[in-house]
Amino acid sequence: TPLLSTHDLGQNIHFHDSLPSTNEAAFRLAADGAEHGEVVITEQQTAGKGRRGRTWVSPHGLNLYFSAILRPELPPQRAPELTLVAAVALAEALREADAEALIKWPNDVQIGGRKVAGILTELSAEPERVHFVVLGIGVNLNAGPEHFPPEVASTATSLSQALGRRVNRALFTASLWGRLEEWLDLHLEVGFEPVRERWKELSATLRQEVLVRTGGSELRGVAEDIDTSGALLVRTAGGSLERVLAGDVEQLRP
Ligand code: BTN
Repeated sequence: TPLLSTHDLGQNIHFHDSLPSTNEAAFRLAADGAEHGEVVITEQQTAGKGRRGRTWVSPHGLNLYFSAILRPELPPQRAPELTLVAAVALAEALREADAEALIKWPNDVQIGGRKVAGILTELSAEPERVHFVVLGIGVNLNAGPEHFPPEVASTATSLSQALGRRVNRALFTASLWGRLEEWLDLHLEVGFEPVRERWKELSATLRQEVLVRTGGSELRGVAEDIDTSGALLVRTAGGSLERVLAGDVEQLRP
């Protein structure tokens, strides 16, 4: 049986040894008409992009860096759901590889409280219609502590560090793409609800006391739920329920 079980995702691969960023390369390909499911993958990134203008550490030959071009039939307002779809697929693929992965809201995938994977979705859309989505995923597979710069050394990990053995990148990639396509298909057919249910099961954030930083302000409380659009619902000490659409979450007690 073939390694890759998908219909579309990753059946057409643009493979590179080095790129500034797979998201940027995929965005250009998509703007030039690349099809749903085409993937850009590289051995290293020289300007890997993280969320909120951060960089994604992308050393050569060790990890997984790819961007999938998606052309989903979704209204643009629902595109952010795709990031949670990807987080669920990532956590499941890491669990299949025997790691106790959990999701920190909205889409950091962690093992033992340390970040192992990140997701960056970028959208090209009109008010009524999505042209395409670039779903960029980075997974630390075989990076060792020496590969992380000092400022992230204490908060990052890799699958191989967690398992204590080398990880086969091709097998992991095929497993992840299989799960990703299954969840993307289910999301399009059934909607966000099953994704939300699974996300809650895999959440490291719910029921925790959290500090959320959004733009300039801070919010402290207990993370109670995510709503039907993926926003985090935080119960403050004063008893009110606050809805957080975007921000950085710090868990105050593990
Ligand atoms: C985050 O900040 O958590 C998101 C990190 C996303 C990194 C991936 S690596 C492949 C793709 N190309 C990029 O430049 N970024 C994403």
